[in-house]
Parts: sequence; C-alpha cells; structure tokens
Amino acid sequence: MRVLFVGDVFATPGLKAVRAYLGAYGGDYDLRIVNAENATGGRGLTEKHFDLVRAAGADVVTLGNHTFDQADTAELLERTTHLIRPLNYPPGTPGLGATTVEVAGTHVTVAQVMGRLFMDPLDDPFRALDDLFASLPEGRPVILDAHTETTAETKVLGHHVAGRAAALLGTHTHVQTADEQVFDGTAYLTDVGMTGVEASSIGVTFEGPYAAFRTQRRHRFTPAEGAATVCAVALELDGARATSIERIRWRHDPATGGGAEPGDGRTGHVVRAEGARAV
Ligand SMILES: [Fe+2]
Ligand SMILES: [Fe+2]
Repeated sequence: MRVLFVGDVFATPGLKAVRAYLGAYGGDYDLRIVNAENATGGRGLTEKHFDLVRAAGADVVTLGNHTFDQADTAELLERTTHLIRPLNYPPGTPGLGATTVEVAGTHVTVAQVMGRLFMDPLDDPFRALDDLFASLPEGRPVILDAHTETTAETKVLGHHVAGRAAALLGTHTHVQTADEQVFDGTAYLTDVGMTGVEASSIGVTFEGPYAAFRTQRRHRFTPAEGAATVCAVALELDGARATSIERIRWRHDPATGGGAEPGDGRTGHVVRAEGARAV
C-alpha cells in the first residue's frame, strides 16, 4: 500500500499547491493524508477549506494546536470522520483523535497526538497512544501525526511506537527534517515540513515576526504570497509495517499549475527497512 502524507498546508498558496500536487500525483497513492491546521489564512481550517482539501483528494485531514482557531471547526469535527484533531485533548473535546478508513479492503487507522514541550498542556500523548493501540485489533496499520515542537519529544514518541505503528510523522515546525528512517517496521520523520511559501517565516511574511523578535512586542502577522512548496512523505506499507519512507519537496508553479523544478520536481530519499534498526 502506498500512502502520501502532506505537511501543514499554510494559507492560500499552500491550498493551491496541495490541490495541484494531489491532482498530478494523488492517484499514485492508495491513501492520502493532509495536515491542514493552517489552511485558513494560517490559522485553523474552516469547513469551506476542509471541503476544498477533501475535493482535491485527501482521504483524511489532520489538525493540531490550531484546531479550534476557526469558529466552525468544532461543529465540523462532530459531523465528519475524515477530520481529526489531537487524541490527547481532554475528554469531552469535540471530534475524533483517531479515525479508521478502508483502503483497498484493508482498514487503516490514522491518529494524531500533540506534544507537550512548548505547546498547550494536553494529556499525556504516550498514554493516549498506548490506549489507542490497546483498542485496535492486532495487525492494524496505524499512521500517526505527531504534532510537536521539539525534535527530542518527536524522536521519543517515535521510539515509543516503534514496532507498533506503521509510521510516526512529525508536523507543526513547518521545516522538513532530513532524518527519515524505518525502524522496527515503523517509518519515521521528525518533521514532514510545511506546504506553503518557503521564502517566509514558517508561512508568514518576515515583517511581523522580525518586528516581534526585535521589539518583544506583538505585531501583525500576514500570510506570505507566491509559489508554495509541497512538503510530504511517501510511505510503502506491507501489512501493518512500513518498508520505505521517501521525503518529497515539490515546488508549485502557479503559472503552469505544475512543478517548477527540473523533471517533475519531486525530490527525496528512500530508506529501506532492511537498512534500519530499532533505536
Ligand atoms: Fe502548522
Ligand atoms: Fe501546529
């Protein structure tokens, strides 16, 4: 089974790029997962933009710390099983933290947890994952979105699920890391990266963060405009285990609607399971 996981879609340039990428390559995959926590102007996801990402071909959409930034998202979460928020929000939080989809006759569970370092103090993500695995049948492929700020917490979450999850993929920092590996059948990347304008401060124009960092006062942040890059990973699964993970960075050219890099613009590295060992 081939799975595509697209990192945090940021504002209109990110939406245009993910739509173009899924239009060109979505058919190469059996399951398409998109983190869209920043799709609506950089903050959260309205129903309109959720519908747009779904219509583009996403099977499951994940959120993060921006889950409730838009007023209609809580109600949307109650109505669909194709949108999830972190599993470790307190009991009673609207929506699902895990969802199961049928892909070519196989049930695949997609779940998200949020880290607690430099983030909102949610419940323990490690225990939330243990409870999730305890609730699932043996042999179920599980793809995890780890919405985390620090590399150490993400790595340790990966270690925690090694041999149990098919993949644990970091989101939230908006910068793709180069440490893809497969250990004990679990594909891992510390951060998938952002689907948005690279010439920016993680999606917004430099002016606002530059002024904020230099003056220690709040300043208005404005989403950057222009060509966006799709940051994603492609996974190969054999049953509930991953056999490979490939990083993707694909530069969207709005003028042509396609990739702006030589060839089809897809870049990445493939790490095969036989070359990787449990950490
Ligand atoms: Fe994000
Ligand atoms: Fe985030």
